[in-house]
Amino acid sequence: MSDTLFRALLDAASAAYRPAGPFAYHFARGKLGGDPLFRKVLQRGMFPAAARVVDLGCGQGLLASWLLAAQRLHEGGRWAGEWPAPPKLLGLRGIDRNPRDVARARRALAEDAALVEIRQGDIATLEGADFGPVDVVTVLDVLHYLDFAAQESVLRKVRAALPAGGLLLARVGDSDAGLPHRLSTAVDLAVAFARGHRLPRLYCRSSRSWIALLEGLGFSVQGEPMGRGKSFANVMLVAQVPL
Ligand SMILES: C[S@@+](CC[C@H](N)C(=O)[O-])C[C@H]1O[C@@H](n2cnc3c(N)ncnc32)[C@H](O)[C@@H]1O
Repeated sequence: MSDTLFRALLDAASAAYRPAGPFAYHFARGKLGGDPLFRKVLQRGMFPAAARVVDLGCGQGLLASWLLAAQRLHEGGRWAGEWPAPPKLLGLRGIDRNPRDVARARRALAEDAALVEIRQGDIATLEGADFGPVDVVTVLDVLHYLDFAAQESVLRKVRAALPAGGLLLARVGDSDAGLPHRLSTAVDLAVAFARGHRLPRLYCRSSRSWIALLEGLGFSVQGEPMGRGKSFANVMLVAQVPL
């Protein structure tokens, strides 16, 4: 993707947050522009051509805004040839327990309410968190906020909700990674605090343990490093329900 197109994508996806206030806007712009995850999910064509998506722990809905902006640029004939076409969103349900994030997401995505639904719910207790029909579940930098039993139960529920060929995209930390992992968790704690959470306890696993858990649930799993710079130890797990 050319820098011009990346800038257009960043501008469009962030602009949606202006009505939600300066914090929402600057947070969106900083994270969408600085976290390689958003660029890579499109560059690698990680989503199928068309998908119903459930985003667990969606925060202020950045993934939805990013995918919608990409879809619009593509429909407007402004997509660069070297990247695969972005996915066509058939619907996206975002679920988050934080009322302030939910309010910011709803405000920013209000014009797309026919396609995007943001629910306040707890994915640990599954209260208010039913998935509906889904092809891709995303859970990005969220699972370590859930205790180990809740991690297993939500992943079991994801597996049950997905059809054959369905995908789970989970970005997790790798607790075997030493200093980079400790830096990642320090940043997560600082960001959680800045976003109005109490300092949470984090429940970390090694990347091997995440993969074993997902394979035990019947997923076929591939992992690739996807940190925010070399000093961070995040991994994107692409877990597919066998066809
Ligand atoms: C680091 S943020 C990531 C937000 C979003 N996935 C993103 O990439 O921008 C973690 C999010 O997980 C949410 N979260 C943590 N525990 C949760 C739970 N039990 N149920 C729902 N959301 C939860 C938090 O409220 C927060 O918005």
